[in-house]
Amino acid sequence: MKGLILSGGKGTRLRPLTHTSAKQLIPIANKPILFYALENLVEAGIKDIGIIVGDTKKEIMEAVGNGKAFNCKITYIEQESPLGLAHAVLTAEDFIKEEPFTMFLGDNFIKGGITDFVKEFYREKPNALILLTEVPNPWDFGVAELKNKTVVKLVEKPKNPKSNLALVGVYIFDSHIFKASKKIKPSFRGELEITDAIQGLIDQGLKVNPHLIKGWWKDTGKLEDILEANRIVLETIENKIHGNIDNLSQITGKAIIEKGVKIKNSVIRGPVIIGENSRIINSYIGPFTSIYYDCLIVISNSPLKEGFIFLEALKLMIGDHGKVGII
Ligand code: TTP
Repeated sequence: MKGLILSGGKGTRLRPLTHTSAKQLIPIANKPILFYALENLVEAGIKDIGIIVGDTKKEIMEAVGNGKAFNCKITYIEQESPLGLAHAVLTAEDFIKEEPFTMFLGDNFIKGGITDFVKEFYREKPNALILLTEVPNPWDFGVAELKNKTVVKLVEKPKNPKSNLALVGVYIFDSHIFKASKKIKPSFRGELEITDAIQGLIDQGLKVNPHLIKGWWKDTGKLEDILEANRIVLETIENKIHGNIDNLSQITGKAIIEKGVKIKNSVIRGPVIIGENSRIINSYIGPFTSIYYDCLIVISNSPLKEGFIFLEALKLMIGDHGKVGII
């Protein structure tokens, strides 16, 4: 099985949270979101991975490299323009060839990885296996209707959703998806929609199976969503403490404190991650905080409580701007 990560798209969506224009490189607990997708694929035994790239190709290639660091082989596939998920599939046809493949949207995060999902595909041998999750706002997503545990209908952002099962950004397809993607026409938003291509599979009588999960996150550009993803990751970390921590400091709960970190006269309450070479001085770091590498956090001449509130609000932003001192 091959892997296909979609990291194309325009580099125009500037965000308050990051100086990178590739949304797939936004760090979640100090690691670009795209790296979790890569690791999930490799963990499931998929090591021949194509990455669809667009305007932000250079940044993505610099961050990921040739795949050696992830124990896989990466092939970059340029998509002329973000013309839809099914268009991205067609762009990758020469790379995928006849093999089944797992398609992972590069700005999606799945708690617990995809190994079970891949095993289920091999066991049940459907033509497509789609991941679904219950959401409170199905009208914002591609939505699936099920009957007797198979998918009977998919609708993109329905006005009157018939279910609350949203399509998560991970799919496994066999090669029928290419023919189905060639048959569809652009939607009202001008994209070749993957939901239409999958509906084509269903209409041909091919087998499209659902797999329900909990713990999914998709980039929506909202701060609360990024904090939520950060929380999902930090909930699962194990203690790994390096660096230099002085006698006046206290660490409780789970913490990843990386090499070169210096902590002086501070209280750290996990789960927390503090990236390489960051320095924390006279500070209180509350639970579910990620501090990027090379940051400086100093709180002086101010009550601890005020510093805490400030840090709560800044959390991930500290990471993106780096070297922030709060004085
Ligand atoms: P999105 O633009 O979020 O695609 P979507 O259809 O899920 O969007 P919306 O929320 O508006 O429904 O892109 C998802 C991922 O796929 C993201 O990493 C960018 C990538 N992508 C491509 O690589 N090529 C494309 O043509 C599109 C549309 C997206």
